[in-house]
Formats: sequence, C-alpha cells, structure tokens
Amino acid sequence: MDSIIVQGNGPVSGEIPISGAKNAALTLMPAALLTDKPVTFTNVPRLSDIKTTNELLASLGTKISMIDDGQKITLTTPEITNHLAHYDIVRKMRASILVLGPIVARHGIAAVSLPGGCAIGARPVDIHLKGLEVLGVDLDLRDGYIHAKAPNGLKGATYELPFASVGATENLLMAATLAKGTTVLKNVAREPEIIDLADLLRLMGANIIGDGSSVIKIEGVETLHGATHQVVTDRIELGTYMMAPLIAGGQVELLGGKRRILESFCQKLEEAGAEITETERGLLVARNNADIRAVSVTTEPYPGFPTDLQAQMMALLCTAEGKSVLNETIFENRFMHAPELIRMGANIEVHGGTATVTGVNELRGAPVMATDLRASVSLILAGLAAKGETRVARVYHLDRGYEKVVSKFRAIGANIERIKE
Ligand code: UD1
Repeated sequence: MDSIIVQGNGPVSGEIPISGAKNAALTLMPAALLTDKPVTFTNVPRLSDIKTTNELLASLGTKISMIDDGQKITLTTPEITNHLAHYDIVRKMRASILVLGPIVARHGIAAVSLPGGCAIGARPVDIHLKGLEVLGVDLDLRDGYIHAKAPNGLKGATYELPFASVGATENLLMAATLAKGTTVLKNVAREPEIIDLADLLRLMGANIIGDGSSVIKIEGVETLHGATHQVVTDRIELGTYMMAPLIAGGQVELLGGKRRILESFCQKLEEAGAEITETERGLLVARNNADIRAVSVTTEPYPGFPTDLQAQMMALLCTAEGKSVLNETIFENRFMHAPELIRMGANIEVHGGTATVTGVNELRGAPVMATDLRASVSLILAGLAAKGETRVARVYHLDRGYEKVVSKFRAIGANIERIKE
C-alpha cells in the first residue's frame, strides 16, 4: 500500500488548477441512466470514485467512452440490461445509492445493495427510501439489498425531507423527472452540486425550478434526451488547497476558484487571518504576517460551513493563537483525524460532536493514517507546517477524491512524495 511523505518545508507559493467536483460527478453520471441517448461530461476529475462509478454503470448496461485521459466521458444506456447494483461495487462507494432513483424511474424495477463508503458515521438512507415511497415506489429490504418496484411508473407527489440530505435530494430529483405529474420536494439540500445536477437534467429536457432554494418543483416528462455538460468546480478541493498557504505561510492562486461557492468558509478563514482576493483567474489566498487566530466553527448544510472542510480547518487551527471550538453537526463520527493530529503534537479534546483545539507553537512530523478522505488530506496539510517528516498511510482514501494530489502540492513548492511500501 502506498504512503505519502511530507517534509515541512516553509512557505508555499504558486498556482493550483482546481478540478471538476467529485461530488457533482458522482451524481451527474447516474443521471445518464434516465435516457437511452448519449450524455457527455467534460471537466471530469480522474479519481478512483469515478472509476467505481463507471464500473457500476457498465454493470447496469451503460456504454462508456472516454477521451482526454478520462476528462471527457460519454455515457449511453440504450437499455438497462441489469437492474441490480451489486454489493461488490456499492460497498466501495456510498454514492452508488444514487443509481436507485434513476433505475426505478426509467425501468420500473431496481435492486441496490445497502451502501458502504467512508467510515464517518452510520449514514442511513432512510430519507432516500421514504421519498421514493411517496413517489409511488414499493420497497422491500432483503438480503442486504433495497428492492424497489414501480411497474406503472412513478407518480408526482409532495415530500418534505426531515433533513436536507444531499444524496436524498439528488436521488429524488432524478427520479421525479420521469414521474407522472408534479413533484414538490421541500427542505431540500441547496449545495452547488444540486444546482449542477438540475442544470444537467434541464439540458436533458426535464422541467425543474427552485434548485438552490429549499423547495424544488419538478414537472414530470415522458422521456429525457442526451446532453453535454461541464462538471462544476470542486469547492472542497478548492477549500483544501486554500489552507496550504495559511498553514505553511506564503500565497497561492487557485485557478478556477470562486468565492461565492465557499462564502461561509472564506469568512471563517478571514476571521482567522487569511487574505483572500478574487482575481481574473480564480482566488488568491495569502497568510498575512500575523499569526493565525483561533476561530469557532459549526458545520452545517450549504450555505453553512461544509463538513467536508472540517478536518482541514482543524489542521489549521492546531497552531492558531488561542482556543478554537469545532462543532460537527452533520456526521456523528467525524473526528478521526484528531488522534492523528495529537500524535503530531496538537492539543485537541473531543467530546461527542465537539472538538476543542488549543493552539500549540509547532507540530512535529509523525507516521499517521486516516480512515476517510478529508481526514487524510488534513494530515498532509498539517505535515506542511510540521517539523520533520510526516508519513501518511492508506493513500487510497486520497485517490478517491483528490486528483493529482502530490503534483498539485509540489507545484506550490511543497516537499511531498508518494512511495510504495
Ligand atoms: C454528501 C457528500 C459528502 C458530504 C455530505 C454532507 C457526495 C457524494 N457526498 O454525502 O461528501 O460530506 O453530502 O455535505 O455528494 N442521512 C440520514 N438519512 C438519509 C440520508 C442522510 O440520516 O437517508 C444523514 C447522514 O447519515 C448524515 C447526514 O444525513 O449524518 C448528511 O448526509 P447527506 O447529506 O445525505 O450526505 P451524502 O449525500 O451521503
């Protein structure tokens, strides 16, 4: 298994191009199951989660063609030849559940293994299932699989989500495009990736209004057609690399970055002492000469502070002046990076969903490992500022969500390499 080795190396400077969003691509690609016509995506990030999605779609009957080293992918599903999403694929990636809505909406029958994914909490799919039931789908949970049936098609209905789940919003939005009549989804998630999905579905002929607000209205159509769509910028990758000059010092320009997709995050960074400037090419981030100050953060659904940037924020706050409090409200088990940061000399106390970080003067390199994607990258970030060598094991987590992570950090002068062990 590969490891990443980082040597603390002083300030960083340079530019990093931001890739297409993993989380957008993982919901856009299943939408291609809704039509028998080709759907083409550009700006697709080259990640192992995309490979897994291709594998999943191919197993269902999708023909895949890739050009530009996989940055452009065309998905064509003349018919759904197999309606069962197998455990062997689904267990690798929780987002596999997103094929459920499209398959049952188009094909009338679907079976999807209950998902696995990152070990960051129980992560049930009850909201996905309840919403599909309201749209007229019969569900049965057997042998670890969700069996879904709607032989006469889905029927438009009104459903209020008990929590603004990103995945449930996406699954229900896709399914409702082919339902008979009007569907109104209330208390939906408002993430930019939901708007990106709605944009694609509209290009495919769907009638959708309200995405980006908390109520989405969908007027069902008989069939959808093909489209070509560019995957939106990855705001979590953007936020991650914005941390590098704040942790290590220096300044970095994030090409393609936009402040409006990360407003609450940018405000917290500024409170901590960051200088963020919008440029023609993206965002320029610098650490002013002062020390980083402690800030308190509560993760929330969009437009609040993203849970997917909480681990990276914790890495920054380890050496801030004063005491920071991080409240994690989205996932119940998302502080697995804390014990690893403590091994690097951080002072962190975790009680339930709250972590208190008391800034220390410096971190020291150590062998560390993480059990999820964002936690892994937070350890690389901490390594940039640490004295000595940090060795991050279980790099496969990073391969799921950070395209060319080593060369992007190298481009700003970080001393980082990937080794086989
Ligand atoms: C998506 C993102 C993930 C991000 C998360 C929150 C993708 C591929 N992944 O995950 O990176 O961390 O949004 O911003 O886009 N829940 C239920 N029942 C459900 C669904 C969710 O209880 O049916 C709970 C989950 O256990 C979790 C919370 O709701 O505690 C948030 O989950 P959700 O918004 O659905 O996240 P995902 O779509 O899984």
